[in-house]
Parts: sequence; structure tokens; C-alpha cells
Amino acid sequence: MSDNSNPVKYQAINFADKLSLFSEQWAPKVIAQMNDYQIKIVKIQGDFSWHQHAQTDETFIVLQGLLRLDFRDGSVQLAAGEMYVVPKGVEHKPFAAAEVKMLLIEPQGVLNTGDLELSELTAINDVWI
Ligand code: NI
Repeated sequence: MSDNSNPVKYQAINFADKLSLFSEQWAPKVIAQMNDYQIKIVKIQGDFSWHQHAQTDETFIVLQGLLRLDFRDGSVQLAAGEMYVVPKGVEHKPFAAAEVKMLLIEPQGVLNTGDLELSELTAINDVWI
């Protein structure tokens, strides 16, 4: 429900437009929120750290490039137009030989590095673009 103090903006959220606004990698930006879940856009390249999210599943949707999600017992490759849901508690490590542009869907407040100690890999949370 909207009211007059908070007018609805009828404007599409365009992935290409959002992607053009930043160049840094491994720094997810929030582009929309649905209930408690945030839809984030991110650019990645190279190898991330092994980690898991004890409290939540994590959805990866590839927009551009080729993403490999490594697991301790296998891996899955995602091309543009493909997605995968990593179940909560499952260790995973994203890898991209060349830059991948993708969407992440996860609850508000989830850190990109999951259960790891805070480090330079830990992205600042809740950054909207
Ligand atoms: Ni993760």
C-alpha cells in the first residue's frame, strides 16, 4: 500500500543501467528489496574464499559471463541466463576466469563472506545503487 507521503515511482530497474554505475568487483550493490530479501548486482573476477551461510540459502543468477561455483564435492557452471541456489550451510567458492556480472538474492544483512572472519574480502553491506 502506498500513501501520498511516499509516492510510487513507476520506473523499471534496468540491469545494464545499474551495471554501468560502478566498476569495482566483489562489491554487491542492492538494486531492490522484496520483503526481507534483497536483490543485489555484482561484478566478480578470479577466486573467492571458501565460505558458507549458516542461516540462509543464496541465489546466483548470471547476467553475463561464465561463473563456476565450486563445492567440496563438485562444481556447477552457470552461463548467462542460468541460476543456482546454494543451500544454507553448504561450503562454496565462486570463481570467474573473466569478469562475471550477476544477481544475488539473499536476506537483508547477509555478508558476502558468510561465516569467515571479517577481512578485505568482506563487502560493505546494504549499499544501494
Ligand atoms: Ni556465499
